[in-house]
Amino acid sequence: MTGSQLPGFYKRGLDERRMLLKEAAGISNDDLKALAEGLTLASANLMVENAIGTMQVPLGVATNFKINGRELLIPMATEEASVIAAASYAAKLALPTGFTATSTRPVMRGQMQLVDVEDASAGKSRIEAEKDRLIAEANKLAGLLPSLGGGVIDLKARVLEAGEEMLIVEFFIDCRDAMGANTIDTVVEGMTAEIESIVKGRALLRILSNLATERLAKATVTYKKESIGGERVVDGIIRAYRFAAADPYRAATNNKGIMNGITALVLATGNDTRAVEAGAHAYAAVGKGYTSLSKWSRDAEGNLHGELELPMAVGTIGGATKTHPTSQFALKLMGIKSARELAETMAALGLAQNFAALRALVTEGIQKGHMQLHARNVAAMAGATGPEAERIADVLAKEGNFSIARAKELLGR
Ligand code: MEV
Repeated sequence: MTGSQLPGFYKRGLDERRMLLKEAAGISNDDLKALAEGLTLASANLMVENAIGTMQVPLGVATNFKINGRELLIPMATEEASVIAAASYAAKLALPTGFTATSTRPVMRGQMQLVDVEDASAGKSRIEAEKDRLIAEANKLAGLLPSLGGGVIDLKARVLEAGEEMLIVEFFIDCRDAMGANTIDTVVEGMTAEIESIVKGRALLRILSNLATERLAKATVTYKKESIGGERVVDGIIRAYRFAAADPYRAATNNKGIMNGITALVLATGNDTRAVEAGAHAYAAVGKGYTSLSKWSRDAEGNLHGELELPMAVGTIGGATKTHPTSQFALKLMGIKSARELAETMAALGLAQNFAALRALVTEGIQKGHMQLHARNVAAMAGATGPEAERIADVLAKEGNFSIARAKELLGR
């Protein structure tokens, strides 16, 4: 790996970009072949029911990222223009230090809802008294996890008043490098008879929680004020943050911008986009009301400091991560093997994406960048390809005329 800064990467042709990855990230010809082939129909047919094809979205590479001192190229699967360029730009401005990221142990929560319980408080006490034995029993259902240093590590019970009294029993499971949904659900379902007999009630729902408050990833970054446009930009971003922190309508859009980055990487690595999205938005609402997932402040030197913390239930083994050739490629490109490193990368990418959106919003607005990309699409619609499309897009953007007729005229058609 030579680094994540690939100057002019965006100007290269598609094949040339792929070849550059060989040098920059140790990608082999076989990896490139797998990338080109993508998901076969035969595999798709095994993944879902009633398969009829595959749905393709562009896969791009965000450059310039440095996380915990390591440079890496980040694959992003997204249909939205500007997102990858914005992340790369935000990562570049964060150099030379880059992002710092941490994560907690990958512990998820499996819930068992018990209804028609004779005495919920007494049931809770009996569960607590038998906790160690129940954890040992549950670990017999946790597959390989205990042998890998993970598995069921805790068990809690609480009485919930929800229009009726119910008892909620929760298993805390360290999922190691797996997202863990299957194992968690197996454990919780498998413990049904045992728990029912202890609490003297009936188990209804047995399912993991996507609000993974025990499995958090956090990223921080400091942007030197002079590298992002000075005091005015620092001030603008902090005020934009205050708006999102205080207003759920703005917070939803702010957090959507964060998820522009995160979801693109979740998808590229074959992880469950809905699980991560649900966890993120629920986490944004666990306090007094729905708010910004990120926080921006000024440090002692007047530089801009950003933080993002959110649940990150992602894995590097199992599910589509393993079966989808593009996901395997994505992990290889980043040189990531552990779920925690992946989670940390997600948080750093989300923070970069948020910074890029806020910087654009408090300076030139976001339409300028979008219109340049729109111009490219118009040039393509007029029949232009390759460098010619870029040249025509530049003219359209400069003239502020995005009609296909003008693009055709420039093409001489
Ligand atoms: C657009 O996809 C994302 C933004 O709306 C995010 C934001 O407003 O912070 C630009």
